[in-house]
Amino acid sequence: MTTLPAGFARHMVDWQKLHGRQSLPWQNTQDPYRVWLSEIMLQQTQVSTVLDYFARFLSRFPDVAALAVAEQDDVLALWSGLGYYSRARNLHRCAQEVMSRFGGAFPSKAEDLQTLPGIGRSTAAAIAAFCFQERAAILDGNVKRVLTRVLGYGEDLAVAKNEKQLWELAQALLPAQPADMPRYTQALMDLGATVCLPRKVQCEVCPVSTLCAAQAQGEPLAYPVKTRKLKRSSATLWLLWAVNGQGQVWLQKRPQKGIWAGLFSLPVFDSEAQLLAAWPHGLEAQYITPWKHVLTHRDLHLHPVRLTGAARQSPDGEGQWVDAQAWPALGLPAPIRQLLQS
Ligand code: ADE
Repeated sequence: MTTLPAGFARHMVDWQKLHGRQSLPWQNTQDPYRVWLSEIMLQQTQVSTVLDYFARFLSRFPDVAALAVAEQDDVLALWSGLGYYSRARNLHRCAQEVMSRFGGAFPSKAEDLQTLPGIGRSTAAAIAAFCFQERAAILDGNVKRVLTRVLGYGEDLAVAKNEKQLWELAQALLPAQPADMPRYTQALMDLGATVCLPRKVQCEVCPVSTLCAAQAQGEPLAYPVKTRKLKRSSATLWLLWAVNGQGQVWLQKRPQKGIWAGLFSLPVFDSEAQLLAAWPHGLEAQYITPWKHVLTHRDLHLHPVRLTGAARQSPDGEGQWVDAQAWPALGLPAPIRQLLQS
C-alpha cells in the first residue's frame, strides 16, 4: 500500500506561483490550439528549441482551421529540424479531425481529446487541465519520476499493471479544486524539468522534500524503476546525392510509412551497388565520409555518394530535380539538410 502524502497538491501549487515558469508563450492562455501545439512540440524537444518553432508555426497557421486545410508538405516543412515527424503528420490529421468530428472546436474532456491522432492519455489530460480545468492527471516521463520518488513507488513500471496503478495514484494526488488544475499541472512539469532531475536532484529547493519518501530513504535516484531496456537496432543507408549540370539536386518524397515518412530526401539504397546502378549517368563519384545518425530506436549509418552528371538523364525511380534555392524550404530530415548544406 502506498500512502498519499497530505498537502502534496497545495505545496506544489504554492511553489509554482513563486518559483515555476510563468511566461512561456503557451502559458497564460486557455486556447486549446496553442496548448495542444505546444504540448506536441514539447513531447520530445526542449523548451529553448520549441520557442522559435512555436512562433513560426502559429504565424503560418494561426488556428486549427488554417492547419487543417494546409498541404502536408507545408506542415512538414515548418516542422523540419524538430525531428520525430510522426508528430507533424498526426498534428495535421488531428486538425482535420477537430474540423470534421468536432465542428472546429477542440473537445473539452480528456476522454474525447484522447480519441484524436497523436494525443495520448497524458497530453489529453494536460490540454483538459490547462484549458478546461478538468481534474485529469498527467503522467509523462518527468512526472513519473517526480511521483515515484515522492511516493517511494518502487514497482517496475515496465509491467503494465504497475503503470496503471501509478496512474491511479497520480489521479488521487490531484488538487480538490478544479481551479487549481492548471497551476498544479504546470507545477509537476516544472518540478520535473528543473528540480527533480534524472541524475541530479536538488532536494534543498524542492517544495515537497519533507513529504518525499525517496528523500527520507536517502535514495532519490533509485526511482523510477523500469527494467525493460529499449531495444536498439541499426541500419546502413546509402544516399544518392545526384547533382545535374545546373547544380540541381535529385530529391524524392518518401513514402507515408517507414523512415522519414512524407519528407523529401536523397534516394536511399541498401547497398553501394544498388545506388550506383540507379544512376549510370553519374560521373565523378565522391564518397562522403560516412557518419552515424542516432534516432530513438535506431542508429543510422549514412553513406552518401555524390555523383555529378553532365548528361540530361535523371536517376531511376521517382523524384524531381530541385534548385539549390528551393530545397531549404522543403521538409527534409535533419541529416539530409546538414549534408546538402555542407
Ligand atoms: N513540457 C511539456 N509541457 C510543458 C509546458 N506546458 N511547459 C513547459 N514544459 C513543458
